[in-house]
Amino acid sequence: MLTNELRQKLVAAALQARQWAYAPYSTYHVGAALLTSSGRIYDGVNVENAAYPNGICAERVAVFKAISEGERQFEAIAVATSNGGTPCGACRQVLSEFGLEINVLIVNGDGAIIQEGPLSALLPSAFKPSDLPQAHQD
Ligand code: THU
Repeated sequence: MLTNELRQKLVAAALQARQWAYAPYSTYHVGAALLTSSGRIYDGVNVENAAYPNGICAERVAVFKAISEGERQFEAIAVATSNGGTPCGACRQVLSEFGLEINVLIVNGDGAIIQEGPLSALLPSAFKPSDLPQAHQD
């Protein structure tokens, strides 16, 4: 359950992380903050590259940081941009690996939450781990 206090903490973390975005090519700075079920917050920023396709979104950086620290269960993710952009398709899919119930908070440059809801609303008919034959599941 996302309390108002946690919600504000998560939004603040996404906004704070945004300043570290490395986005010299698009100049579109994105900050993400991912809340684990254990109450920890992992942040992430988009990291671009002169060889453009090698860049990565803020959401995936946050997820990969958390996963590589042993986390597997997530409550919510806040994503902060100048104009309240929503996570791209690849990030939606990566998040969905860990549950379609994850609450997604979309934050604009003023820190206002302009959209909030479960990942399932952003990714209907998701391809899920359970769609694979048993042998391919973790
Ligand atoms: N970007 C993100 O970090 N997250 C999103 O949800 C959408 C797009 C980044 C990728 C790229 O560095 C820049 O924003 C412009 O697409």
